[in-house]
Amino acid sequence: MKNDFVWWRDGVIYQIYPRSFKDSTGSGIGDLKGITEKLDYLSDLGIDAIWLSPINPSPDVDFGYDVSDYCAIDPKFGTMQDFEHLIAEADKLGIRIVMDLVLNHTSDQHPWFKSARRSRDDSCRDWYIWQDADPSGKPPNNWHAVFGGSGWEWDSETEQYYYHMFYKQQPDLNWRNPQVRNALLEVFRFWLDKGVKGFRLDVFNMYIKDDLFRNNPTKLIGRRPFERQIHLYDFDRPELMGVLSDIRQVVDAYADTYVVGETFLGTPEKAAGYCGEEYLHACFDFNFLESKYKPQPLLKAITEWENALGGSIWPNYVCNNHDNPRTATRFGVGEDDERLKVAAALILTLRGTPFLYYGEEIGMRDIRLKRSDILDPIGKRYWPIYKGRDGCRAPMQWNAEKNAGFSSATPWLPVHPDYLKRNAENQTEERYSLLNFYKQLLVFRKTHSALIYGDFQVVSGNSPHVLAFKRSYAGSTIMVILNFSDKPHEIILPEQIADYSIAFSSIERTPKLLKENSIGLSGSEVLVLVKH
Ligand code: GLC
Repeated sequence: MKNDFVWWRDGVIYQIYPRSFKDSTGSGIGDLKGITEKLDYLSDLGIDAIWLSPINPSPDVDFGYDVSDYCAIDPKFGTMQDFEHLIAEADKLGIRIVMDLVLNHTSDQHPWFKSARRSRDDSCRDWYIWQDADPSGKPPNNWHAVFGGSGWEWDSETEQYYYHMFYKQQPDLNWRNPQVRNALLEVFRFWLDKGVKGFRLDVFNMYIKDDLFRNNPTKLIGRRPFERQIHLYDFDRPELMGVLSDIRQVVDAYADTYVVGETFLGTPEKAAGYCGEEYLHACFDFNFLESKYKPQPLLKAITEWENALGGSIWPNYVCNNHDNPRTATRFGVGEDDERLKVAAALILTLRGTPFLYYGEEIGMRDIRLKRSDILDPIGKRYWPIYKGRDGCRAPMQWNAEKNAGFSSATPWLPVHPDYLKRNAENQTEERYSLLNFYKQLLVFRKTHSALIYGDFQVVSGNSPHVLAFKRSYAGSTIMVILNFSDKPHEIILPEQIADYSIAFSSIERTPKLLKENSIGLSGSEVLVLVKH
């Protein structure tokens, strides 16, 4: 193993949605003390950093993604002291904290916006994006909000429109204003001074909009008006690079720091283009997350991502997050977890930083809600075509006790009814559980540098159901073979596998089963071989 362990490159990052992880106060909402209580669990799991979805004060129109104070902790999550304690305790276990910064927009309850909307002459007016109506009184251009409707909201007091890319309660900041830029850079310093080691930038590629407010061209294909536009002018503007390099300079002044950006509507090329020594360390590419459970589309996503990054930028992979249905729901068959082991083995053996999402390690399924119980406003708006994002945000299933051990009070979202069986406590006990599979694989990954630093070479077998690849580094080679079919498959590999021995498998095996260059795989088998 190299000595220079770089946590964000060589480690594993675990996303926590704080509302749903562990409630220590009996409020029904998870909190920081709850996370601190569970650090031993996370350390046993083998992760290196926690990305916390927003913990700043928020009126929760978008559940934390509408911030009303960037430099404080929302009282429902605890105090600044609780946060400092979490950082200190996590640090003792070698776990870093990554904060989610939502800097494209604030809440409409942020003092800056409250001030800005008071009058056209307010000193904060230009901190947001205001425009006059067009001559007929309509919005100044055709830009749409991601969450539906026009992106422009009329303010009758001051008789101008303000722009919001998401809900109208999330007015977009004007990053072109140097005062805004400085204030936001100060936010980074504030948290870095507290010992935060990394940031996840929410929709960073929307920070800068066209200064001439030109209309987006439209196209015919797309379900909603937002999708029927070519987003030339409302995001991905060239001036963004200057902002990213300002951010990088601030962050680089602190040791061992990292910034990963959420590329909204990104392509691999676009995401890669925002990374580099002067820009962000990493960006997310969601093609992998959006892929079907099949070798070909997954491999396509992997190779496109690898090619776009071009060797010098470090990849990352994510299967689950707080905005999408969980892999357990997308790939799982009933309560069976075998396919999830295949997915876990893939993300933990690829070349790049794996991002895990709380509960993924125990195969949590999305909850289903009645229309009247939906909390996510976009779910309410688009039901039944789209039911929102509550499904993947349900409370963590710790044990078989009341509310899955998440809270003594009624949780803010219901616990999945499978918690009596599916919970972290049970899975710690069961030898072949998904949780133990993650743990074993994470240990294996940490102790096999080829899985971290090795290159990525596809091994072409003769089965369309199997994905096989090699990772080689400093004379050692590991071959990963994943059977995506639930049925057994024989594969013939193009090289002698007699040189390899079984290092890790999701089923009981003995090395003598390997012969010549063919392998009989069980349904959904994960097989990891080491070359000797
Ligand atoms: C990002 C977040 C999402 C949020 C949106 C607006 O996409 O991941 O949860 O609703 O930004 O902040």
